[in-house]
Amino acid sequence: MISVRGLSKTFHTSQGPVHALDNVTFSVKSGEVLGIYGPSGAGKTTLLRCLALLETPDSGEILFKGTNVLEVSGEDLRRLRMKIGVVFQGYNLLFSRTALRNVMLPLEIQGYHKQAAAELASTALDMVGLSHRKGFMPTHLSGGEKQRVAIARALVTQPEVLILDEPTSALDKRTAESILELIQGINQSTGITVLIVTHQTELVGAICNRHIYINNGVLSELGCSPDRTLLAAPTVGESVSC
Ligand SMILES: Nc1ncnc2c1ncn2[C@@H]1O[C@H](COP(=O)(O)OP(=O)(O)OP(=O)(O)O)[C@@H](O)[C@H]1O
Ligand SMILES: [Mg+2]
Repeated sequence: MISVRGLSKTFHTSQGPVHALDNVTFSVKSGEVLGIYGPSGAGKTTLLRCLALLETPDSGEILFKGTNVLEVSGEDLRRLRMKIGVVFQGYNLLFSRTALRNVMLPLEIQGYHKQAAAELASTALDMVGLSHRKGFMPTHLSGGEKQRVAIARALVTQPEVLILDEPTSALDKRTAESILELIQGINQSTGITVLIVTHQTELVGAICNRHIYINNGVLSELGCSPDRTLLAAPTVGESVSC
């Protein structure tokens, strides 16, 4: 479904260049749950931002179902963005809007009529188990509930890919497990392709079909395990074929 080839991104800072992504190559199969791991500053969020079409890499290509997304613009780019749902590190909810109106936002941006947007947002909140919290403001929601709203907002445009950046790191273990169960259930019931960035390899790795590791912008594949057991991290550059 997604094929990333030779992706590089350097940030030019006052302290000198930061090579956030260095010739990253990997692919994602339709319907799989891919875990992306690595230490702080490794380049994980930069990679997700490139895949979500929010950051432009310096070189390389990203093929989404065979289309090089870096060559797409205008209306085609807008339609492509709708196919990729993103849950950002730290929820990114608007605190002046209720849960329902937060989930309506991507549809409003797409020009949906308010009534239609409210109906779709309501269904998305039902899907994440928040039927009873639609009128709540984010400040009145627990961390797990906020994360569910963020997931509903990412799903409301019915994307084909769901990208989550550290979806459980701010949650206690029990809440984190319930969020992972939710993500797994959505993957199994809709067939949506899921990419999860996390530090919590054991916890999150349990729901991933395949795992990749990134360090200093360099990516290596950890491999896949039919019993969903996370394989040991290889040395950078080592590849395990599935
Ligand atoms: N906009 C930017 N300008 C300059 N440098 C940046 C920018 N965004 C990221 N970087 C740098 O690129 C590197 C990778 O950052 P990134 O946010 O992708 O890491 P990460 O793996 O997501 O880390 P964390 O686990 O802490 O979230 C870091 O060294 C960071 O300082
Ligand atoms: Mg990050």
